[in-house]
Amino acid sequence: MDHNEAFISAVHSATLERFETTHKAPSNIALVKYWGKYDSQIPANASISFTLSEAHTTSRILFEKAAKSEVHVFYEGESKPEFEPKIVQFLERIRLYCPFLSTYKITIDTANTFPHSSGIASSASGMAALAMGIVALEQKLGGIAKEAMLQKASFLGRLGSGSAARSIEGPVVSWGEHAELENSSDLYATKFERPHELFKTYQDSILIVHKGTKKVSSTLGHDLMKNHPFKEARFEQAQSHISSLVAAMKKGNLEAFIKIVESEALSLHAMMMTSNPYFVLMEPQTLEVIQKVWDYRAQTKTPLCFTLDAGANVHLLYPEAHKKEVHSFIENQLKQHCEDGFYIHDRCGEGAV
Ligand code: DP6
Repeated sequence: MDHNEAFISAVHSATLERFETTHKAPSNIALVKYWGKYDSQIPANASISFTLSEAHTTSRILFEKAAKSEVHVFYEGESKPEFEPKIVQFLERIRLYCPFLSTYKITIDTANTFPHSSGIASSASGMAALAMGIVALEQKLGGIAKEAMLQKASFLGRLGSGSAARSIEGPVVSWGEHAELENSSDLYATKFERPHELFKTYQDSILIVHKGTKKVSSTLGHDLMKNHPFKEARFEQAQSHISSLVAAMKKGNLEAFIKIVESEALSLHAMMMTSNPYFVLMEPQTLEVIQKVWDYRAQTKTPLCFTLDAGANVHLLYPEAHKKEVHSFIENQLKQHCEDGFYIHDRCGEGAV
């Protein structure tokens, strides 16, 4: 049997008139980046991330039996028809796995804890919350066992947005096949089973250097990897970074952890600078922050490092034990590089609820 087939639901029609469910799903920050994919959302390399907790999406989903499927999306109670095409496309992609959906009208009311224009992507948390709601309905219809729900939610989330697969569980999660990651799969994410204690409470302070939407959507970014001159080397580098990171995260080797995480962030941006067309997504303030982090680490020996998304904002990662001094470093020296002085203190979390 094809592995995908295991995710096809046997439930075809709705036996329930109305079902309402609310799920909260967090954002996540990749340590080894997913950048490049094949058809049907198969990643070109494995990725590992911290599941966050403060930055999350809450979605109330109402399923009502109807002659044909329909979707309505609201953001904090306000109708948002512009969000609907992406959801419709997602429902189209998962139809085979959740045939019962075609007999429901779906109303989604969603809200994020982070400001809409902050530059923090909501696709991972939003798609993960929606996938959780759909799996909850499937369970209610008797189509799936409780133990299988999280894996299916990750499988469905992946079809909405690759990184959403990693927002179901926490605190450390991987997605994509890799010999050194037990039970790893290209189809869904799995929990990293034995991270060192240090990583279960790791902190992530997100410095909003630039608000507003991204210059390059991740869809375009992944696409640019298809003909990228360095793609093979990049995918190999990521797989080898996973091997080193797995070892560092089991042992609690912070020096090795920092080297890999910062290298990954810079490699991701290097890929964008060398693609056709090319992009620079860092802002001058991004580089100012990076330089200050390096100076601070050299001077204080605090194990503080940075990572980046496909944008200008900087995620600062550090162990919980260093929270106090890092918070004052941010307040005194880094806040000035944030747009309107805006930053968010987040930390590792346990995933969707
Ligand atoms: C740079 O998951 O947003 O954040 O699958 O096209 O929706 P799609 O892409 P998406 O890509 C995330 C890219 C990244 C790195 C990462 O999270 O691993």
